[in-house]
Amino acid sequence: MFSADLLAGQTILITGGGTGLGRAMALRFAGLGAKVGICGRRPDPLAATVADIRAAGGTAASAMCDVRDPVSVKMMVDSLEAELGPLTGLVNNAAGNFLSAAEDLSPNAFDTVIKIVLNGTFHTTSEVGRRWIERKNGGAILSIVTTYAWMGSAFVLPSACAKAGVLAMTRSLAVEWATYGIRSNAIAPGPFPTDGAFSRLMAGDIEEQVKKQIPLGRFGRPEELADLAVYMMAPGASYMNGECVVLDGGEWLKTGQEFGHYTDFDRGAVKQIFQSMKRSR
Ligand code: HXC
Ligand code: NAP
Repeated sequence: MFSADLLAGQTILITGGGTGLGRAMALRFAGLGAKVGICGRRPDPLAATVADIRAAGGTAASAMCDVRDPVSVKMMVDSLEAELGPLTGLVNNAAGNFLSAAEDLSPNAFDTVIKIVLNGTFHTTSEVGRRWIERKNGGAILSIVTTYAWMGSAFVLPSACAKAGVLAMTRSLAVEWATYGIRSNAIAPGPFPTDGAFSRLMAGDIEEQVKKQIPLGRFGRPEELADLAVYMMAPGASYMNGECVVLDGGEWLKTGQEFGHYTDFDRGAVKQIFQSMKRSR
């Protein structure tokens, strides 16, 4: 899909890059020539991802960090830049989420998700953005939100509020920081089966029901998201700014469409019903 050295010369930080979608992006970016820095709270997934990238001939480094803490973020960026050189790209991917009825959320439960997703994205973005503004070289920011960032979702209230905030941050900075050559974009994924997300969010047989909402009939593959992220982070995407690209197999359109559920039935049978309902004036 891409030329082998598409990201040569790029140095990209991916928060939460040791697992799931972050790991998929880290492997893909490095495979296309980028130097990749990853961070997270647990050392083991970080070490494993760095080892896998290096084993494949790529360049990667990791630093432990809790994105809720701006001091930890600064130390992490210092450490990664010392090892890899100045960053040219930032992917805000770290997140926290869980299912809960809104009325059962404690203040700390709400705070915890907001602080990881919204405040954490602010801390990394401002830490890296300030460096780029000072260096006058520009940069590319990509934030991973979700399709419920603009329509909200039951039972994930803190995440919905935080992702809506990240989308607003993306669009605000797309205008404010364009003058510094900094592009700011987002991807809104539908469901991608990662352990982090599915172990927390897919209860009982809901997984099969959710799959039926997706016109393409399957969940996304992390490599598909990684390829979209490559495009959006590549120097050739230099005019893309303030965009949020949905990657969900058409799910959010179907759930919002009045007659989309006719697609759940045998097409021949549906057409017969339509014919039988055809009326002349
Ligand atoms: C209600 C909960 C809860 C739950 C935690 N809390 N889990 N409340 N239901 N299931 C409450 C706790 O009781 C506590 O409040 C507060 O939240 C903080 O909990 P801790 O366990 O101390 O927090 P921490 O150790 O910092 O862990 C953060 C976390 C955890 C968010 C709770 O799940 C985590 O580390 N997640 C990271 C990975 C992740 O979530 N990945 C999924 C991303 S998927 P009290 O009041 O008791 O002190 C995604 C989008 C998917 O974002 C979209 C799919 C389509
Ligand atoms: P995941 O594997 O759980 O990824 C979350 C990552 O964030 C983990 O590596 C985690 O590492 C890191 N993280 C969490 N809290 C952190 C903190 N305080 N400081 C630093 N790092 C932290 O789940 P995923 O599915 O790949 O999710 C990746 C992104 O995609 C998230 O933004 C999520 O909201 C978004 N998304 C996922 C889906 C999906 O279906 N998978 C759908 C829509 C959007 P540590 O725990 O080690 O810190």
